[in-house]
Amino acid sequence: MTLPESVLAALRCQDCGFPLAEESAETLVCAGSGGHRVGREDGFLTFARPDAGKYDQAYAARYAALWAFGYQTLHSGLDETLYRAVTSLAAESLLALQAPLVLDAGCGVGRCATDCARMAPGSQVLALDASPAMLELARRLAHGGEPVAVELGAHGFAEPIVIAPRPAPNLILARGDVEHLPLADDALDLALSINMIDRLPGGPDLALAECYRVLKPGGRLLFSDPLNFTARDLWERFPDAGAILALLGDLGFTIETWFDDLCYRELLDSRRSFQEFNTLVVAARKPPAAP
Ligand SMILES: C[S@@+](CC[C@H](N)C(=O)[O-])C[C@H]1O[C@@H](n2cnc3c(N)ncnc32)[C@H](O)[C@@H]1O
Ligand SMILES: [Zn+2]
Repeated sequence: MTLPESVLAALRCQDCGFPLAEESAETLVCAGSGGHRVGREDGFLTFARPDAGKYDQAYAARYAALWAFGYQTLHSGLDETLYRAVTSLAAESLLALQAPLVLDAGCGVGRCATDCARMAPGSQVLALDASPAMLELARRLAHGGEPVAVELGAHGFAEPIVIAPRPAPNLILARGDVEHLPLADDALDLALSINMIDRLPGGPDLALAECYRVLKPGGRLLFSDPLNFTARDLWERFPDAGAILALLGDLGFTIETWFDDLCYRELLDSRRSFQEFNTLVVAARKPPAAP
C-alpha cells in the first residue's frame, strides 16, 4: 500500500504494540509472533472498530455539508472562527518543521487534518476516527478529486449543497480509537484533538494521555472542545476550563496558551439558525528532552 517510511515507522500493531511492515497492497503485518494484520478497507487502514455512536452516513454528510455551506456563503462560515484559530496555531508549528508527522485524533470529515496537510505539503498527516462514514467523506474530499453533493431538503435547502474537494495526497486516513492509538511512543511532532473529548463516555483522560505518549519530546498538542459533556460525573470532574488545564498539567504538558471564550457555532438549517458553543482552545507542549 506504499505508506511513506516515516508513517510506517510511527505505526504500531493495535494488539501487541510491535512495529508493522507492508505485506501487500492491502495489508500491513505485525512483527510480533501473533500474526496480526491491519487491512486497508474502503480506502482507510483499519486498526480498531470503536463504537462510532451517532456518526453514521447521514450525520457525516449533514455535518460536512452545513460546514461547507457556511464556509461558501457566509464568509465567516459560522464555525470558521474555531477552525481558523486551530489552523493558525497549527501553522505556527508546521512552519517551524521540515517534514512533520501530524495526528488528528478524532478527525471527523477531516477539516483540520486536511488544512494541516494542505498547509504543509511536506508533512504526513494521519487522520484517525472511529466512524467509517466520517472517514469516507474525508476520503472523498481529500482523495476523490470530485465535488460531493449532499441533499439536505429536510433542513430547508431546495438544491443539494456542493462540497468542494480539498485535495491532500499527504493525508492518511485510519479507523481507530483515540483512547488506544496505533502509534509508537515519542513519534509525532503535532497532535490535534479537536471537539471530540466530550464525545468519549469515559471522559478525556485516556485520549489526552495517548496524545502525550505519542508526541515527541518538544511536540505540540492543539486541543479544543466545548466541554459539552453528556454525563453528570463528567460535568462534576470537569466543571470548567481549569479542570482540563489541570489534567493536561498532570499528564506532563506545559500549557503555552489557552482561551475559553471562543464562540463556535454549528449551522442547523437554510434559515441560518445555529447552535452556539463556548469552546476551550489550548496549545500545550510535551517538554523537550533534557540536553
Ligand atoms: C464532533 S466530531 C469532531 C470531528 C473533527 N475533529 C472536527 O472538528 O470536525 C467528533 C468525532 O470524534 C469521533 N470519535 C468519537 N469517539 C471516538 C473514539 N473513541 N476514537 C476515535 N474517534 C472517535 C467521532 O466519530 C466524530 O467524528
Ligand atoms: Zn501484533
